[in-house]
Amino acid sequence: MRRRFFLANWKMNVTVREARVLAAALRDRIDAVILQACEVVIAPPMLAMPTLAQELAGSRIAIAGANMYCEDKGPFTGEVSASMLKEVGASYVLIGHSERRDLFHEDDGLINRKLKAALRDGLTPVLCVGEHADERDAGRVLEVVLGQLQRGLDEIDGSRLAQVVVAYEPVWAVGTGRTAQPQAAELVHGSIRSGLGDLCGRNAARRVRIVYGGSVTPTNAAAYLSQPDIDGLMVGAASLDPDSFVQILKAGTVRT
Ligand code: 13P
Repeated sequence: MRRRFFLANWKMNVTVREARVLAAALRDRIDAVILQACEVVIAPPMLAMPTLAQELAGSRIAIAGANMYCEDKGPFTGEVSASMLKEVGASYVLIGHSERRDLFHEDDGLINRKLKAALRDGLTPVLCVGEHADERDAGRVLEVVLGQLQRGLDEIDGSRLAQVVVAYEPVWAVGTGRTAQPQAAELVHGSIRSGLGDLCGRNAARRVRIVYGGSVTPTNAAAYLSQPDIDGLMVGAASLDPDSFVQILKAGTVRT
């Protein structure tokens, strides 16, 4: 059985001071039952990572970088490397979030290089894929999502793929309050798993966690988690409220 995976994506929404308060609140509320059933990860703004590492030390709540560059060091003003993220306590890194793709023009080639660098330096990448509204309306969901998956994972050894987490986040559902029907999301997750099977074999594909994101709330979390190929959730806005995020995590402790 795949261990459920939950990621709080705080984006650029908290200062370092606010991040410390939020992390402390979560550490106090996330109990052993939740941590037994779920892997819990927080992606804070980069500047807050050392503070979070301090605040969460010994808690089993993991930290993710929200982004990274694909080189180890050099003249890349404003960027950070995988080894820098690791040094401040990250074990995961988000790669190819739709906000990075759309606002910062990241393409699949760059995302592929970042994934390779993350794996090489010992960070677990969370590869984000998802279609825009016009692509959905044109019936191109699987074409877009499987294309992003294939190009993102190009030339990555099949034996490494099982450790990648894939996040399906329909762009039209991110931060909009609009949500995909759980059955429609399940169809995409199932197709991602078959696509991974073609890349790395069915056994490895069965081990990959494929998580859903886009306007997840305590009200809709359980419906997504009841789908067989939805292995966890990526939570933006609702993860900024400790009570809401913990309620979502509690939904993760229930297996139907
Ligand atoms: P929202 O939950 O705010 O829609 O954000 C989702 C997201 O981007 C998670 O990575």
